[in-house]
Amino acid sequence: MKYTEFYAKSIDNAEEFWEEQAHQIKWFKTPNTILSKDENDYPLWFKDGELNASYLALDKHIEDGFGDEVAIIYDSPVTQTIRQITFHEAKTEVAKLAGGLLSLGVEKGDTVIIYMPMIPQAVYAMLACARIGATHSVVFGGFSPNELAIRIDDCKPKVILTASSGIEIDRLIAYKPLVDEAMELSEHKPLNVVVFNRKLGARIPFKKYDIDYDALIYGSEEADYIPVESTHPLYILYTSGTTGKPKGIVRDTGGYCTALKFSMKYIYNAQPGETFWAASDIGWAVGHSYTVYGPLINRNATIVFEGKPVRTPDASTFWRVISEHQVRTMFTAPTAIRAIKKEDPNGEFIKNYDLSCLRTQFLAGERCDVATLNWFTEHIPVPVIDHWWQTESGWPMIAIMMGLEQFPYKPGSSGKPVCGYDIQILDENGEVLPTGEEGYVAIKLPLPPGTLMTVYNNLERFQGSYLEKFPGYYFSGDGGYKDADGYVYITGRVDDVINVAGHRLSTADMEEVVASHPAVAECAVIGVNDDLKGQIPFAMVVLKAGEEMESFQLEYEIIQLVREKIGAVASMKNVLLVNRLPKTRSGKILRKILRSIVDGVEFQVPSTIDDELILDEIQDALTEYKNR
Ligand code: COA
Ligand code: AMP
Repeated sequence: MKYTEFYAKSIDNAEEFWEEQAHQIKWFKTPNTILSKDENDYPLWFKDGELNASYLALDKHIEDGFGDEVAIIYDSPVTQTIRQITFHEAKTEVAKLAGGLLSLGVEKGDTVIIYMPMIPQAVYAMLACARIGATHSVVFGGFSPNELAIRIDDCKPKVILTASSGIEIDRLIAYKPLVDEAMELSEHKPLNVVVFNRKLGARIPFKKYDIDYDALIYGSEEADYIPVESTHPLYILYTSGTTGKPKGIVRDTGGYCTALKFSMKYIYNAQPGETFWAASDIGWAVGHSYTVYGPLINRNATIVFEGKPVRTPDASTFWRVISEHQVRTMFTAPTAIRAIKKEDPNGEFIKNYDLSCLRTQFLAGERCDVATLNWFTEHIPVPVIDHWWQTESGWPMIAIMMGLEQFPYKPGSSGKPVCGYDIQILDENGEVLPTGEEGYVAIKLPLPPGTLMTVYNNLERFQGSYLEKFPGYYFSGDGGYKDADGYVYITGRVDDVINVAGHRLSTADMEEVVASHPAVAECAVIGVNDDLKGQIPFAMVVLKAGEEMESFQLEYEIIQLVREKIGAVASMKNVLLVNRLPKTRSGKILRKILRSIVDGVEFQVPSTIDDELILDEIQDALTEYKNR
């Protein structure tokens, strides 16, 4: 069936369409109710079905006779390790860890935080939770203890799983002291911290709540998987919103597994048995859906890659991994390709590897700039598919569905709406805009299976952030337009969320931290263009009256503060001291204009500006800052 017909069916006969897709995975109780509504009138998928995501990822393949096939390839240039783990082996590890968690008192319905680097144990931890019905919440290792503590207090885990250390290019990052610090900062105190000792020399301060991972596994019986309801929360994944507090996106089990299986076939065109590589940390949505659950449910070998596209050891790493593990489908963020291009502009490294195994390159996380796309196709002759999605959706919303109909891609566009997503471009009043006109990207309800169920413990925020702006629609927070052929172009966020090297961060969060510096009267943090990372934060700061401070000292202190409170991943490197910030007469900081000034693009001065002269002052301060 071709795209147009298939897509139309997914929208016009959504229940029939998704019932058929649900039959592609194994349920312990097949759902009879396909689409219903919860008590707040929000759509629910497969309400009365029962299944287990860990079973689908591992046991099912063993039952089908594929237990000796490779499930996980651990490729770690930073420790110079490559290991292949079969479905059998992975299942044993997962079942033992699940048994260990049970022995610590973790039960169905409890939450567990996972704060780990890219090692197989991180995947085992996720699947062990899923096996016993515990809801996991993975926190990216680049976040500070403060951010970890915020998440501990929000989802109140019974247990935290961590490892002794991560490795960042040239330095060991001891995770355990960070977890201990978070445990001190948080009000909620998890019962235990399970520590996987990597024996790389990191400091592991001993605390009474510590449990050694190996000892736990050694002393535990393998735990069996338990059937959970389709709507049982498989995980909570925090993402940045427009306030300082992250939003805990809640994912169901049945809709998610159905959607992932569907997407592996129809979007990624991945055949069971092939190697699939999403080079993302498991702390992000891509890592959850396409490093862990998607490929494993589809019986693809997945690569757990502990390294970076460059400097581990050089810009050839991605090509080595693709050719060595015969990767058929690859997924990364454009920033990773830009990093490689910067180090190896003529693609010399690429020539050393046989990449004929690679069928398709997918990119997401930020808009793919045309220069990056062209560079890739010039050196590697495979389709490069930019596709659009969010933590909230859990799987792509706009793409070229490569397993259905391989339309040509158009540079600058992320493709056409994926089956199940009725994507509309709306104006401020919620009216659908004509082709070519830019507006808000919204999706008509119901969203398809696998998308967010709610914001953890915060119905008000869920409704306020996504459902209230345009009644009857999910509001994505992105702007965009459609062309006459139905291709959608995403033009960027319309709120305070920025994308730094494919990582989603909140400038409001950073503003709160910058404003907490004792010398700061007020500040604005904006996302500005960056050749490598797409966007980076840029802070403009006004000192309190009477405060005198060297701008270098202030910059240093603020950068350190952001690293300490949010984490190095925020990549805050620029702090500009200004006398005043431009505002509207009603007192709103004109952030968009500040962005234009730093990016050096033309802008219109709004008639509501309080004092236009401030813009010249800022321009002068910026010139001086750049020339220093
Ligand atoms: N634990 C601890 N610290 C971490 C970390 C982790 N898991 N991940 C990143 N950091 C630190 C880095 O060491 C760096 O610190 P520094 O400022 O002291 O150097 C900082 O956070 C920023 O990291 P990063 O954004 O990774 O920048 P980088 O310069 O080290 O690398 C890229 C740049 C483009 C190579 C890298 O960002 C990249 O590979 N991006 C791809 C992103 C991606 O896959 N996104 C997923 C969505 S698809
Ligand atoms: P995250 O929730 O971290 O996946 O970030 C989601 C946001 O990243 C989206 O709201 C977009 O702003 C941006 N994004 C992701 N993929 C793309 C893409 N292919 N093109 C443009 N923006 C993207």
